[in-house]
Amino acid sequence: MTQICYSKSAQYKDLGTIYAQCSGPGGLQLSDFMAQKMGLKGGARLLDIGCNRGIQTCFLAKEYDVDIVGIDPWDDRMHGDPMVEHTRRNAEKWGVSHRVLAQKIGVPDTYFAAESFDFVHSTTALEMVRGINGEEGYLDCLREILRVLKKGGVFGLGEPMHLDVPLPKDLEPYVSYGDFSWKECFRDIHSTVADVKRAGFQIVESGYAPDAWAWWMEFAEHDPFCKKDPGGDPKTLAVDNGRWTSFGYVIARKVD
Ligand SMILES: C[S@@+](CC[C@H](N)C(=O)[O-])C[C@H]1O[C@@H](n2cnc3c(N)ncnc32)[C@H](O)[C@@H]1O
Repeated sequence: MTQICYSKSAQYKDLGTIYAQCSGPGGLQLSDFMAQKMGLKGGARLLDIGCNRGIQTCFLAKEYDVDIVGIDPWDDRMHGDPMVEHTRRNAEKWGVSHRVLAQKIGVPDTYFAAESFDFVHSTTALEMVRGINGEEGYLDCLREILRVLKKGGVFGLGEPMHLDVPLPKDLEPYVSYGDFSWKECFRDIHSTVADVKRAGFQIVESGYAPDAWAWWMEFAEHDPFCKKDPGGDPKTLAVDNGRWTSFGYVIARKVD
């Protein structure tokens, strides 16, 4: 088991800014976690899927010395600016524009040449694709990731998941509403691992992140949409109280 060291992300202390620039639990700690679980190496070429405003992308480029293509097909919910424009602006601010290229595209239609990347990484993005396009749509994304990864390359998936327990009855209404209801989007670790295997990967390691609940609590406190709407995700998490919602990861390799 890799022992995770959070000294790189610990330098960035302004959680308000961090959570305003990404959109999910974990912030830069999650990026440290994924980078070390994947064994990210300086000089490698990484594809970051669902990079949002690119703060995690810039962090990885700067602190792990990798060249990154960040992709995101959506515009932000506040002003309608493309996420990739935020990513480009962040790359300038972080001094990594020579290492970060942002493209307004998404999985499964990336149009990259086969075997373009040493690493592919995605956090808190593919479960939304599952919510929109179902299990087959999710699998199409995983197959595309396999296609663009070099042989021997590593895929790191970090995703909101639920624990391997039945959904508590009193929680059900809180996770069943909206376009991306957690009930539709979230799976447990076993089902996610099975999907990654079905897509053709070899599993290296998987599990629930030990700090999953702390990351969700940080998200509830600092995410701008949570601050605006305490009756939304923060209320869901308060009702849950750690019984069902978690955050899982799968590290997988392309073997042939
Ligand atoms: C909840 S945010 C997560 C951002 C960030 N990776 C994080 O961990 O906080 C999910 C992002 O996935 C992007 N997204 C949605 N569908 C996508 C697709 N088909 N391919 C790539 N990204 C997608 C959205 O635009 C959004 O910016």
